[in-house]
Order: sequence, then C-alpha cells, then structure tokens
Amino acid sequence: MAGDNERNPDASLDAFWMPFTANRWFRKTPRLITEASGIRYRDERGRELLDFASGLWCVNAGHCHPRVVSAIQEQAAKLDYAMSFQLGHPEAFRLAERLSGLAPKGLDRVFFCNSGSESVDTALKIALAWHRLRGHAGRTRLVGRVRGYHGVGFGGISVGGIGNNRRQFPVQLPGTDHLPHTHVPAEMAFSRGQPEWGAHLADALDDLVALHGPDTIAAVIVEPVAGSGGVLVPPVGYLERLRERCTAHGILLIFDEVITGFGRVGQIFGAERFGVVPDLLCCAKGLTNGAVPMGAVLASKGLFDDFMQGPELAIELAHGYTYSGHPLATAAAHATLDVYEEEGLFAHARSLEQQFEDRLHGLKQCAPITDIRNIGLMGALDLEPVPGEPARRGITLFERAFEAGLVVRTAGDTLALCPPLVTQPDELDMMFDRLEQALVASS
Ligand SMILES: Cc1ncc(COP(=O)(O)O)c(C=O)c1O
Repeated sequence: MAGDNERNPDASLDAFWMPFTANRWFRKTPRLITEASGIRYRDERGRELLDFASGLWCVNAGHCHPRVVSAIQEQAAKLDYAMSFQLGHPEAFRLAERLSGLAPKGLDRVFFCNSGSESVDTALKIALAWHRLRGHAGRTRLVGRVRGYHGVGFGGISVGGIGNNRRQFPVQLPGTDHLPHTHVPAEMAFSRGQPEWGAHLADALDDLVALHGPDTIAAVIVEPVAGSGGVLVPPVGYLERLRERCTAHGILLIFDEVITGFGRVGQIFGAERFGVVPDLLCCAKGLTNGAVPMGAVLASKGLFDDFMQGPELAIELAHGYTYSGHPLATAAAHATLDVYEEEGLFAHARSLEQQFEDRLHGLKQCAPITDIRNIGLMGALDLEPVPGEPARRGITLFERAFEAGLVVRTAGDTLALCPPLVTQPDELDMMFDRLEQALVASS
C-alpha cells in the first residue's frame, strides 16, 4: 500500500475536503486512482484494481469507453455550452426524445439536471407545483421511506431515511414522513431476488393518509431497490401495492432510479423489471456512464400539459439549472445509450445475474455474515459488527480488498457490490475470488 513516505511531497492532500469520507483516515493511507479502463482502475503506484463498485454505481459500460470518450472530446470542440433558459441546442432535445422512447410507456417528457440529488429535488418540486396548479394546494406533504437515500439536497435528506445523513442538519423540509423499510431479516434473511414476505408493508401509506388527512400528501418517493441503504430488494407485490395505494389516494408516486436505472437490474429501469410505472422517475449516474454529471426527471405528457396553461409568455415551472442539458453531458449520454444498445449490455447483465447470485451467496462461510441479498447486478452482505465498534469491520474489509486488488463500496458494516455491466464471467469470478480473500483476511 502507498504509505506516507512514498508520497510525492509536492502533492499535498490538505485542501480537498472529501465528501462522505473519514478525511483523517484517508490522509493516513491515501488511495489515489490515476487511470481507468473497462472494469479496471490503476492507482498512482501503478497497481491494477478491479472495480466492483462501477465507480459509484455509475460506470455501467466500463471506464473510459472509447465511444463515450470521443463523443465528449468532439462535443467540447464543437459547442462547449449553450444555456437552456430561453435558448437550446438540438442534441438536448434529441436526447429527451430518445429517453422518452426508452422509458416505460407514458413517461415521455424529460427535465434535465446535473445529479441524482438534483433530480430528486426537481421531482419533489414538480409534484408540489402540479398539485397546486390543479387546485390542491393543501397537498404539501412528502413521504419517503426509512433507509431510503435520495441524495443530499434539503429535499432529498428530508424524504431520505438514513439517520446519519440527517442528524447533522437539523433544519429540514417540514411535513415529511416515512414509510417503514422492507428489510426484515427474521422474514427474509439470505433471500435470493425478491423476498416473498412483505407486500403488506406498502399499506403503511394508508396509516399516513389517515393520520394527516386525505388531501395532504403530494408524493411518495422510493427507490425500487433501496441502494445506498444496503440493497434492500422490494418484496414480491410491494411496489404494485404501493402504486395501487398512491393512485387510490391521489398521491404521485416517484421512483428514484438513480442507481437502478440503465441496466443495473437487467432492464433499462426498475420500473420495467418490476412492472410498475411511477408518475415521475428520477435518474442520473448510468445515464452518462459517470463520465459527465447529468440527471433527469421523466414525467408524463399529461402532467406536462397540466403546466402548459396561463399566459403564453409566463414561465410554467420556475426551476432549472445553469447546466440543465449541458452539451458535454448530452454527448456523453448519447454515446452511453449507443453503447448500451450496440453491446446489448442490459441483456448481458441479465445473463450474469445467476452467476453473481451464486457467488455472492457462496460467501456466507467466509466471515461472520448476518445477511446476503441481491437482484440484478446489485447485491449486499451485512458483516457482524465488532462489538462497540460500528463500521470497523466494513472499513477493514475495504482495506483488505484494496490490498487484494479490488475496489468495493462499504457503508458501515454493509458491503454493497455492483460490477460494471460489461464484466465477463471470468472477470466476475476474479472479483469474487479477491473478495473472498479479503473477507477471510478481515475477519
Ligand atoms: C437513489 C439515489 N438517489 C439520489 C442519489 C444522489 O445522487 P448524486 O450523488 O448524483 O447527487 C443517489 C446517489 O447515490 C442515489 O443512490
């Protein structure tokens, strides 16, 4: 491993305040990546590492895909920037058209932003504004789910259900509430795919409606598979029931597909995999293969048309970003969608799913593990915590994995895995072999 004495003394690590990182821990043993290609990283010492985290759930088509690289390069030389306020550029319109053709039927209008967090805040704002313009201004409540992750904007953390991400910021949106999460180990530990138990947990929405009143909730937001909260797979029938309860109560259903979008669950969106269509769909990450930041919210034409009222010169939605539909992001997204299509990556992900599941569940004996779960090419395992030292096992595993030539994503004592969709079967075996080695070494 790179030690302090091996670092270039000119390259100070002091100034960068790292996000979601224990900064002091990092600086003691910095791990710096300098190159990437396909499923591999190279660090500053020239060591090769397999990327078992797809960047951060985003590099679905593999790093530095030549097609994406050249699309960005060409675009940068042709049109670096054009605002999307009262002006536009053709490729953003073409991308919206393309996405609406790929999305579940009925989601054919696209609002661009720059990240998952922005897509969530955008969707929540659209939901509030939509109810208001339809005369239901009292529908101001927003409902998320315990253990849900919806980014770091104030909207996102308010509906988010991860305590650590909320506690430091005691001022949040008023009028938010949370459904229970769906991970009940006593009923579903070591499930493969969707657990059989738990569809009824969606009925908790009825309790919130009874508690707050019938015309108070604007929207419910959930991830079809909760990702950062630990890969919590929806029980069979749960999303269908939630869809049905939202419709019955006049509440908009928002799917946050920032992780589950673009092939992670073997289809373009979780909505397709689970056969449930939301009213609004948030996406980001795999939209551009992680190469340029971009997010989007998909909505129906009907909802869009509801906004197209009033004086023609009036702005219908007072919302947007300097970089909405940015040319470089747009170029990266087009190239990424080309790659997904031409290389058949969603079907390839489906073909790897059984191997992924078998190898993942085969880790059970390698270390003290209390649960393993998976769907598509996303999976997680919970390590038994060291008493009194939460996250110790997770961090140790991260370190041992790095030593074994593998980058993994740990959060607390949970390990989440998501190989790039381009991974080949022998490479997937190599990732699991290294992980096994790391698990044994860390326990
Ligand atoms: C489901 C979900 N929503 C939103 C976000 C936030 O995305 P970003 O970090 O791009 O703002 C994430 C990030 O991991 C996510 O997993």
